[in-house]
Amino acid sequence: MHQHQVPSRFKAKIIPVSIFDFVVFGGTGDLALRKLMPSLYYRDKDGQIPTGSRIIGASRSDMDRAAYIAIVKEHLVKHVRDEDFNEECWAAFAERLDYVSTEVPNGWQNLKQALAADGRIRVFYLSVPPGIFGSTCGKIHQHKLIDDQTRVVIEKPIGRDLETSCEINDSVGNYFHEGQIYRIDHYLGKETVQNLMALRFANSLFEPLWTRNWIDHIQITVAESIGIGTRGGYYDKSGALRDMVQNHILQLLCLVAMETPKEFGANEVRDEKLKVLRALRKIGPEDFKSHVVMGRYREGAVGGRPVIGYMEEKGIPEDSRTESYVAIKAHVDNWRWAGVPFYLRTGKRMPRRTSEIVIQFKKVPHLIFPRNADEVAPNRMVIRLQPDEGIRLYLMTKVPGPGGFRMQPTPLDLSFAEAFKMRYPDGYERLVMDVVRGNQTLFMRRDEVEAAWMWADTILNGWDNLNTFPQSYTAGTWGPSAAIALIERDGRTWYESEKR
Ligand code: BG6
Repeated sequence: MHQHQVPSRFKAKIIPVSIFDFVVFGGTGDLALRKLMPSLYYRDKDGQIPTGSRIIGASRSDMDRAAYIAIVKEHLVKHVRDEDFNEECWAAFAERLDYVSTEVPNGWQNLKQALAADGRIRVFYLSVPPGIFGSTCGKIHQHKLIDDQTRVVIEKPIGRDLETSCEINDSVGNYFHEGQIYRIDHYLGKETVQNLMALRFANSLFEPLWTRNWIDHIQITVAESIGIGTRGGYYDKSGALRDMVQNHILQLLCLVAMETPKEFGANEVRDEKLKVLRALRKIGPEDFKSHVVMGRYREGAVGGRPVIGYMEEKGIPEDSRTESYVAIKAHVDNWRWAGVPFYLRTGKRMPRRTSEIVIQFKKVPHLIFPRNADEVAPNRMVIRLQPDEGIRLYLMTKVPGPGGFRMQPTPLDLSFAEAFKMRYPDGYERLVMDVVRGNQTLFMRRDEVEAAWMWADTILNGWDNLNTFPQSYTAGTWGPSAAIALIERDGRTWYESEKR
């Protein structure tokens, strides 16, 4: 597709936010140092953080402000691009940083004193295990740190099933009302995921085709080349279905399948997503084998390097039944999607990291090129979320030159990196600022999380009933053969993602 320059009025328009205090509980943890601090640094560097705002790390470790600042710097150097890290911006950012240990005597009093009492926006980011969300919120409440301008941010896993997710939501809901609770799904912060809404609702071209009348099926793939690394303890209690499908993949499915909201407002968008989640057909134990494949990697090679199998990873019990891969044939039971399967798959130790949504349109209704019948492939739109974000729309075209009327699918290729010559911000950058702005559109509402669990629970029950082990696949391949059979039984194939 021809490359267009972005008009300067669209370039890096920074919408100012009001002054705020941003407290990160678990301030010395991996998420805080790898994602949150770099995101806040970038927003500061772009001039979005107003003078006087503060970022306060809080954790159990007993250390002073200077030691914390040194730790943050060490991580920023690692996680911010070389060209974006400079001493001047760092000095301004460090100025905002503070640290409080909540475990020392008077720790919470110290936190209270560290916070401004001028009625400014106050964010509490709970980058801590969900088991202590409730007690942390209780202490925030007990120290009278909650007012109308206060927000709390929580991360997945919000439970391991419907029941435990209700417990967690209740434990936070005892102190904060829904309008103050920001449940992060970092996939919603990804630029291309937001672009899905632009594609569907800011273009009139596709929406009339976005139905069972024109679409044969939809595929959503989130493949990762990494294994579980050092996260065995967490991952083995979770597995691919809880870790990726119940949240990230279902959110993608919602954005693909939802009706047009009345406006791009938090409740309007979330109401429409909720309807999709509620329309997901339950996959009962009797349907499990025909609709779900659980897999687990054994040793193999990824990117030319040998890697160990799941069972050899650190922290995995010998009797583990946890899946590192899952493929699902799902249905959204409503008028728009009746009869259109959604094939979902995600896994660790796949050949490469790639996330994409494939909209597979129907075949032409009547062939006027009978001799070339095999060449007439149905149209397909591939929305690439990562890496190399972009959209490819495959159209049938005539191959130039003599030699008969030969055809092949050729992509209209929109590469965002080429179209917008700018840095692609991490999803967290957008999301942390949305919390400060008080915009909940890209955060999950309680009823959404619970509806997603209601569906996931039926699959998990089916899996428990079966009492078998996941099917094995060699690391560096696209999953177990049963997952290929899952889609091929229907006369379809998984889209082989192309390297750009
Ligand atoms: C997290 C999961 O939510 O998402 C991880 O817990 C996974 O297991 C990660 O690796 C994938 O995120 P991204 O942004 O790298 O696609």
